[in-house]
Amino acid sequence: MKVAVRYYTKTGNTKKLADAVAAALGVEAESVETPLNEKVDLLFLGSSVYAAGVDSAIKEFINNLDPSMVGAVVNVSTAALLPSTYNQVRKLLEARGIAVKQEEFHCRGQFHALHKGKPDEADVAAAASFAKKIAGAE
Ligand SMILES: Cc1cc2nc3c(=O)[nH]c(=O)nc-3n(C[C@H](O)[C@H](O)[C@H](O)COP(=O)(O)O)c2cc1C
Repeated sequence: MKVAVRYYTKTGNTKKLADAVAAALGVEAESVETPLNEKVDLLFLGSSVYAAGVDSAIKEFINNLDPSMVGAVVNVSTAALLPSTYNQVRKLLEARGIAVKQEEFHCRGQFHALHKGKPDEADVAAAASFAKKIAGAE
């Protein structure tokens, strides 16, 4: 099974999860600046919330995705308060005709003094086993 990992981060939290997912699956996590140029079964997409919305870089990446290159997207996210970016990301992807897995990985991300150290070691380990479970189930 072919997988890829893309993420957008402002302060490094989502990159921690993306790197853990990628390492677990034996690939490199790349920023959304790197277009997806190969056909994959699963695309793990890492994002987070800024002023209640996902960054325009995530929107642009999704708008430029070729739906024929992606079997399904797996949402991975961090946020200080919101439960996940799942609904926002799913809406954008489904508008492009790209399937989104129901399973997602989300954890708290540090925001100034809030949730210091998050994602922590346990979150990183949980993201890695989540990725293996989803990819193994394909
Ligand atoms: C400019 C800015 C705005 C944010 N707005 C929100 C918000 O509206 N809701 C929320 O839950 N978290 C908010 N956060 C917290 C981030 O979602 C959280 O720190 C996340 O883990 C950041 O991920 P990143 O380090 O990958 O950029 C905000 C963070 C920043 C830097």
